[in-house]
Amino acid sequence: MKFIAGNWKMNGSRGALKTMVDALRDIETDNTVVLCVPYTMLGIDGGRASMGAQDVSPHAKGAFTGEVSAEMLQEAGAKYVIVGHSERRQYHGETNAIVREKAAAAIAAGLTPIICVGETMDEKQAGKTMAVIESGVRESVPENTNGKIVIAYEPRWAIGAGLTPTSAEIAEAHTLIANTLHNMGIGGTPVLYGASVKGNNAAEIMSIPNVDGVLVGGASLKPDDFIPIITSVK
Ligand code: 13P
Repeated sequence: MKFIAGNWKMNGSRGALKTMVDALRDIETDNTVVLCVPYTMLGIDGGRASMGAQDVSPHAKGAFTGEVSAEMLQEAGAKYVIVGHSERRQYHGETNAIVREKAAAAIAAGLTPIICVGETMDEKQAGKTMAVIESGVRESVPENTNGKIVIAYEPRWAIGAGLTPTSAEIAEAHTLIANTLHNMGIGGTPVLYGASVKGNNAAEIMSIPNVDGVLVGGASLKPDDFIPIITSVK
């Protein structure tokens, strides 16, 4: 059984989400399916899919104009929330320390954070990929996870670019993450791969050891693209 999450980023509409939910209703799969949508689309019953958000405030409540708390997400029907996505790290200056606080806030409200880590092209070219991944995991995962986290490895240079690392590179990264989580006492935590996952590469990627599922961007927006990914694996 695999874990297949879509990240709609700032795309879609409530109408498009209803179309997706209807299309997912009859698919035959035991896989976990999650749709991480903009805040305004929460509240719609995901049916076969669990709903998730794409960010959360590290604060529980109060004078933080524009922010949305984990408890509010939970009340709106979210079960998951992406934290530390590379676009948040890149455009909003999120550090591992901030990501860790957000993940802790999510866990405290009963949500499962999907914690993203991954290297930039500069870091890759400087030979720092493994170091960035390991420190990303060690520094972004809160002390008490309650067994309720998911990790997503997203090589930042490959996102939305139609580029993917080689299978050997994905295997190396995922083995490092699995070992790091084991050493932190939380072995068995699901680890997803994300960046340019499509119907034609999803099954191969999910056959790589220690890849427990995928986090899909562009190809999660339309049923014709997303459903083949979900049904490509058992
Ligand atoms: P793409 O699948 O569009 O490359 O996006 C990946 C991603 O950022 C998922 O969170």
